[in-house]
Amino acid sequence: MSELQLTINYEEFSSVTEMSAEDQELVAKALEAQKGSYSPYSRFQVGAALKLANGLVVKGANQENVAYPSGLCAERTAMFWAGANYPDVPLDTLVIAGSNNGELCESPASPCGSCRQVMAEYQKKHKRPLKVILVGSKRIRKFHRVDDLLPFIFDSLKME
Ligand code: THU
Repeated sequence: MSELQLTINYEEFSSVTEMSAEDQELVAKALEAQKGSYSPYSRFQVGAALKLANGLVVKGANQENVAYPSGLCAERTAMFWAGANYPDVPLDTLVIAGSNNGELCESPASPCGSCRQVMAEYQKKHKRPLKVILVGSKRIRKFHRVDDLLPFIFDSLKME
């Protein structure tokens, strides 16, 4: 028997101004995308901005339904739209921003397990690391590959 540790890597920023101009622009788009949230049940507005490898930016927002399981998270609306409309274009960066009753969470909202699994699948499909940025008002986290958000990915392909 061996006891092992797993290290995950990510960057943490205390302000968006510490990020590259490109990332700052994407963060602004994720915040803007929150306007598309339909969340009368949770009152939690999530916006996503997904940059594709061809430079196109797709926005998504969480959509809820009175029949609860019928809703979908913001990041999946964006990833599925990209998958349906640009099936051959790899995903480059996904930014997620969550607000509680209109107020951006201090600590960034973290994607659910199902969304992480979907991210992993597209990363594998395109054989290219998908970067993920989680936005909060006090801290922003940047992951350079989905593996750092979902260790031991089912059927994982290592990108390095
Ligand atoms: N939600 C997202 O859209 N993305 C996340 O990363 C976390 C949760 C949504 C689902 C639901 O509409 C609401 O936030 C509250 O859970």
